Amino acid sequence: MDGKNGHQVPRHVAVIMDGNGRWARARGMPRHAGHRSGVKSVRETVEIAAKRGVSYLTLFAFSSENWRRPADEVSKLMGLFLEALQREVDDLHRNKVRLRFIGAREQLQAELVASIARAEEKTQDNDGLCLIVATAYGGRWDIVEASKSLARKTVAGEISINDIDEDKLANELSLSGIPDPDLLIRTGGERRISNFLLWNLAYAELWFCDCLWPDFREQQFDEALAYYSSRQRRYGYTGDQVA
Ligand code: IPE
Ligand code: IPE
Ligand code: MG
Repeated sequence: MDGKNGHQVPRHVAVIMDGNGRWARARGMPRHAGHRSGVKSVRETVEIAAKRGVSYLTLFAFSSENWRRPADEVSKLMGLFLEALQREVDDLHRNKVRLRFIGAREQLQAELVASIARAEEKTQDNDGLCLIVATAYGGRWDIVEASKSLARKTVAGEISINDIDEDKLANELSLSGIPDPDLLIRTGGERRISNFLLWNLAYAELWFCDCLWPDFREQQFDEALAYYSSRQRRYGYTGDQVA
C-alpha cells in the first residue's frame, strides 16, 4: 500500500499511445490531426501521473518501425515533437518534471536533438515525475546497443565474459538505473507490444483499452490504475508466499 489513497500505485507506468490515425479518420481529418490532438492527452497523462504519485512515466512516441510510414507523416510528426517540446518545456520545468529521451537520437534531425539536449539539461535536477519519451526507440535496438556495449567492454578487457549477467546487461539499456515498468497501458485496441521495452516489461501488468489515444483522459488512466491495484504480483512465487 504505497499510494496516496491507500491503493497500490505503480511506481513506473509505460504507455503505448496508439490510435491517433483512426481517431482522425473517424472525423474525416488527416492523420496528423490525430497526432496533434494526441499531444493534449500527453499533457493530461503527465499531470495525472504526477497527481497519483507515479514516479516514472515512459511514453512511446515513435518506434524504430514508424520510419516506414509515408515521409510526409514522419516529417509532420517530427515537427510536432519539436513544437510540443519547445512549447511545454517551461511548464514541465515549473512542475518539477525531469525529462529524458530514449531511442536512436542520431536518427533525428539536428534541431530536435539540440532541443532534447536542452530540455534534459534544464530539467535534470528536478525531483518530481520523471517523464521518459521513447522516440526512434525499439526494444530490439535497445538490446542490440546494450550487447555492443558489453562486447566493447569485453574486448577492452574491462569485464570478462563470465561477468556478464542480467544486471550487467540491464545497466547498458536505455532505462538503466530506472525501475522496470509496473504497468503497461496500450490504447487503440491492439493487444501487442510492438517492439516497445522488451527487456524491461518482463513483469509488467498489461492493460489494453479500446479508447483511441486522443480520447485518453483521467477516467481511462484511473481505470488502468484500478486494474493494476487489483493484481497480485507474484514474480514466480506462489500466491501464498506473496501474501
Ligand atoms: C500512434 O497512433 C502514434 C504513432 C505511432 C506515432 P497511430 O498513428 O499508430 O494511429 P493508428 O494506429 O493508425 O490509429
Ligand atoms: C506503436 O504503435 C508505436 C507507438 C505508439 C509510437 P504502432 O501503431 O506503430 O504499432 P503497430 O504497427 O500497429 O504494431
Ligand atoms: Mg497505430
